[in-house]
Amino acid sequence: MNNDIMIEFRNLTKKFKDFYAVSNINLEISRGEIVGFLGPNGAGKSTTMKMLAHLLKPTEGEIWIRGNGELQKLSSHNKDYLLNNIGFLIENPAFYGNVTPRLVLKYFASLKGYPRNKINNRIEEIIEFFGMSDWIDKKIKTFSKGMRQKIGIASAIIHDPDIIVLDEPSTGLDPKARIEIRDFILKLKKIGKTIFLSSHLLYEVSEIADRVAIINKGNLIAFDTLDNLEAKAKKSIIHFELFGHPEENIKSMLKNIEEIVYPLTGISRDLNWVNYIEESKIFQIFFNGHSENQLNILEALLKNGYRIIEFSVPKAGLLENLFLEMVNPEGNLNFNNNNHSNLNNVHKELIVEEVQ
Ligand SMILES: Nc1ncnc2c1ncn2[C@@H]1O[C@H](COP(=O)(O)OP(=O)(O)O)[C@@H](O)[C@H]1O
Ligand SMILES: [Mg+2]
Repeated sequence: MNNDIMIEFRNLTKKFKDFYAVSNINLEISRGEIVGFLGPNGAGKSTTMKMLAHLLKPTEGEIWIRGNGELQKLSSHNKDYLLNNIGFLIENPAFYGNVTPRLVLKYFASLKGYPRNKINNRIEEIIEFFGMSDWIDKKIKTFSKGMRQKIGIASAIIHDPDIIVLDEPSTGLDPKARIEIRDFILKLKKIGKTIFLSSHLLYEVSEIADRVAIINKGNLIAFDTLDNLEAKAKKSIIHFELFGHPEENIKSMLKNIEEIVYPLTGISRDLNWVNYIEESKIFQIFFNGHSENQLNILEALLKNGYRIIEFSVPKAGLLENLFLEMVNPEGNLNFNNNNHSNLNNVHKELIVEEVQ
């Protein structure tokens, strides 16, 4: 595994008037890895990618891109040269319906200065790679969204860049097309490409990303391998269900649970650490993940007359829960994860932290 950094954001910030669309992001992407850029709609993913593509100018901070063997700071002077090593698919590509994919690919190949005498060979390679031979010479207007998206990705990488940036490549596609796109991305990794891929759906990036960067309201709140994020998430939540209809006096019940259980959770009070999810009738308690604390919490609830019919520390899908929390306006989660965490808005954030 090569540890060359291919792209690095340093304190990257974008303000639209007084609004921080992207706030002080630090992130690096290494050669050959897939970094998933995950966040709910409006989180700042496209804005970040547009700054990388030099379509938007950062308000503050820097973007560094590897070119000619060394990291170089992106500027208007070197952008053509540095960006030529990146293939971008940003926002849904729109194609004229009256042309064929072959023509589109030829157009992009010459636009990007691919050697003229090699274009046809390159297009054959792409046809093979994407399995487009049946429709490469058909008019695009008859194509499904999935086929169009494949042309979009094919056009983005027609000049064979080392780095590929895909902004929500699967959004709006049917499941079959999503799987195909996912497999193309894996194939691209296999041939050594470095991939920066955004999505608002956890499972889409979690299936393929080596590392996941989670962004919410412009802040990078976690950047780690999925295993590490899962491990952190796994440690920190209890689900339980009560007999009867707790929603009838949920407010006083939550207050009471807070009094009984809080001292046993081993986490700081900043956290909105006890919740009731009405649809599933599940109570959630965030805690430090130690089995001793888990036992104490269960005993305390039983001792105080809570008629628990289900009690679990779910093993799967916890990151998903945390991500859902994040999407919900109350719950900005902060994994408090190494120095990538952005604590600008700490007063607004919920912090899941381990108390040693
Ligand atoms: N050109 C712009 N002017 C003002 N606000 C913008 C502009 N572009 C994006 N925004 C706002 O910035 C935030 C982040 O947008 P975006 O980066 O598109 O999010 P994402 O791609 O994660 O869905 C959103 O609140 C969006 O409304
Ligand atoms: Mg977007």
